[in-house]
Amino acid sequence: MASPRPAVLVARQAPAAVLARLHAEFDVDLNEPDVVLPRPELLQRLQGKLACMITGSERIDAELLDACPELRFVSTVSVGFNHIDVPACTARGVVVTNTPDVLTESTADFGFALMMAAARRMSEGERMLRDGRWQRWSWDLLAGADVHGATLGILGMGRIGQAIARRGHHGFGMPVIYHNRSRLDAATEAAVGARYVSQDELFAEADHLILVLPYSPAVHHLVGAQQLALMKPTATLTNVARGGIVDENALVAALRAGRPGAAALDVFEGEPQVNPALLTLPNTVLTPHIASATIKTRTAMAALAVDNLLALVSGRPPLTALNPEVIERQT
Ligand code: DGY
Repeated sequence: MASPRPAVLVARQAPAAVLARLHAEFDVDLNEPDVVLPRPELLQRLQGKLACMITGSERIDAELLDACPELRFVSTVSVGFNHIDVPACTARGVVVTNTPDVLTESTADFGFALMMAAARRMSEGERMLRDGRWQRWSWDLLAGADVHGATLGILGMGRIGQAIARRGHHGFGMPVIYHNRSRLDAATEAAVGARYVSQDELFAEADHLILVLPYSPAVHHLVGAQQLALMKPTATLTNVARGGIVDENALVAALRAGRPGAAALDVFEGEPQVNPALLTLPNTVLTPHIASATIKTRTAMAALAVDNLLALVSGRPPLTALNPEVIERQT
């Protein structure tokens, strides 16, 4: 008798062609309606599952792991993994994988586009036009801040930060300054045209500041009233990292006070809920966590998540493990 196939929960929809490769090796429990599974249903559907393919919407913590002792592999379709307690997984021998690299360029494109939209007041202009409030041309109608030649600030200089720096430096002639936990080596700094500065200098000197650092409790509300007060009144703040990095109430107060001049946010503290005050401010550009959302990139992310699971069940090392020590321990 053939041995039973391993079972996987696919917690959110993914491209059918990508999932077909999973069906070939696993018994797949697919969340067809693609709604976020309520926690009790997530726990119930994980019973007896060896693996799960999740997104940022599903929280994997010690309580869940203890309630689902057969779970061995967690593959998240995201580069960010703040929704997963990786140390708790490691302690229980659960391998965790994510999807870095494949989304770098698309996310950098979007971060740059959001920054430009805030600087050039594109959302304000579109809202004015659609609402029928555009009455005539005037020389200073929605006049914003230049992007070319302005100083680009980047907080968090990983792969996405560097991709944004390249765009600013090579494409828009922007002096680039950055702050990061660790400084890049001189060759990498030169390749992306970036200069290392302190965090306070970054907030004070940037004309356009983009947040791309990973979220952890250590950086919760890192951007609060004190940092925002350092920014220029003409500056923009863009966040394509995680909502919790910015204290949204402090940002609302700062935007009302006119420093920084505008903000562009793709991520929010309580998403999909959005702080209602942000919705009422004219100087915000707000998008629903779509920085990596191109068909090509989202397909590549799902494909990498599936590749990781297929590798794991066939005894090969996964491509992008967050805790490879679990596999080393087992071999
Ligand atoms: C990521 O990959 O972390 C993006 O934020 C999508 O969740």
